[in-house]
Amino acid sequence: MSSDSAAANPFAETLPALDWVWEWSRRYVEALPNHRAGTDVTAPEMTALFDEPLPEDGCSPENAVRAWLDRAERGITGSSGPRNFGFVIGGTTPASLAADWLASAIDQNSGLWVAGPCTSHTDEAVLRWLKELFLLPSSWAGTLTSGATMSNLVGLAAGRQWASWQLGFDAAADGLGGHPPIPVLSSTEIHASAVKSLSTLGFGRNAIRKLPAIDGVLDLAALQDALSSIDGPVIVVANAGEVNTGAFDDLHGIADLVADHPGGGWIHVDGAFGLYANLSPRTAHLLAGIERVDSAGCDAHKWLNVPYDSGFAFVRDESLLLETFSTRGAYLEPIGEIGKDLDGYGPVFSTRFRGLPMWCALKAYGRAGYRAMVERCLDNAAAFGSWLDQTHGVELLAPVRLNMVCWRFTPDGLDDAATDQFNRDAVAAIQRDGRVFLTPTRWQGKQAIRCAFDNWATSAADVEVLQQVVRQQGRLGAL
Ligand SMILES: Cc1ncc(COP(=O)(O)O)c(C=O)c1O
Repeated sequence: MSSDSAAANPFAETLPALDWVWEWSRRYVEALPNHRAGTDVTAPEMTALFDEPLPEDGCSPENAVRAWLDRAERGITGSSGPRNFGFVIGGTTPASLAADWLASAIDQNSGLWVAGPCTSHTDEAVLRWLKELFLLPSSWAGTLTSGATMSNLVGLAAGRQWASWQLGFDAAADGLGGHPPIPVLSSTEIHASAVKSLSTLGFGRNAIRKLPAIDGVLDLAALQDALSSIDGPVIVVANAGEVNTGAFDDLHGIADLVADHPGGGWIHVDGAFGLYANLSPRTAHLLAGIERVDSAGCDAHKWLNVPYDSGFAFVRDESLLLETFSTRGAYLEPIGEIGKDLDGYGPVFSTRFRGLPMWCALKAYGRAGYRAMVERCLDNAAAFGSWLDQTHGVELLAPVRLNMVCWRFTPDGLDDAATDQFNRDAVAAIQRDGRVFLTPTRWQGKQAIRCAFDNWATSAADVEVLQQVVRQQGRLGAL
């Protein structure tokens, strides 16, 4: 940092760096529709590029950014572009990207009102708008998170607190040690992030009883059986949007069984992308009963299409969140009248101003814009699914209920093991090719391929490209 410019204005050096980043980003975003969706760079190549000692002397901010791009550029995928169908990624709408830059420029610490009153009021407005958008009860309390994993953690922490009260202790204050384990029921299709949350919260991964699922949907008879063997309170983790196929557990069915359970129950819904079903009347039936559950977690960096990292969680009872997460320290005590501190509603104190890109996206597109975006994704998923269904040499492995398409290549003359290997090789080749990006999975014992449709900018033409790549990779005849 130069001391002359620092004396004049310590932020003067920021401007050329921002100008440079602006120019680079402008070109990047403009070219994003045609950016390679995947990359052919290898891990050893990337390791070599970053293999250098900590510099003794610094350089200008602009040169630092350039130096990073020199090394990293080949490792940037078009993951926020329209031909990324891998995992469940989502893109960045124009309003949310601009607002996210603004969030960095003003660098407010969300959580403590006095540190930036704009944050608490924005976040509260966003939580209110999200409940309206997702048709959730307005009385639910909520918090913004870094993504669905933390959203699941928030909902399950509230469930843990509820269960401990039922059992006569206070888990947040005293921990779980010395008390009987709190049973957790879910299906075999529970998402890895909920498992991670349960292990973080001290339930332990092994505490989960994974009940059978029929085509991805929790078997209610198995749930009834399991409940009848439990005396006390129970936590049920339901999937609203199973990650491979987009299957939805029957929330009314679960709520009915839990209502009849003498020990009571807490129902947490993992709705990382499935909660978006409520944005379209075409798919809202999938979430029937959502208003009867106790907590729900969702992602914003997926289908809301705001930049990483961003999610939100809602919990029926505000006091459970505050009991679990609210702590104070002398240095945090406010002086005088202040607004609401939001740090007590979630697991972290200091946090990025995630509410800002969300607020601007919701303001820019509104309910109608988001409904249109979700329905475009539904159309794209349905179109790809029905193309697979009519094409020889591929197999649709599950009905397309929402935005997830689970399928595989079925080349003639190969046995099961060879078909599995063909699919693994095909995914690797498609990822290297880079025109589209998709990811593998296993479904009902078969090596499979998942395509997720949750990018706001994906068009029917992008789906055509996907089909062309699949056709070429599988050496399928034209329709
Ligand atoms: C159903 C489901 N739950 C939870 C998660 C975890 O979300 P995140 O990676 O944003 O924490 C995902 C991610 O794909 C998901 O699909």
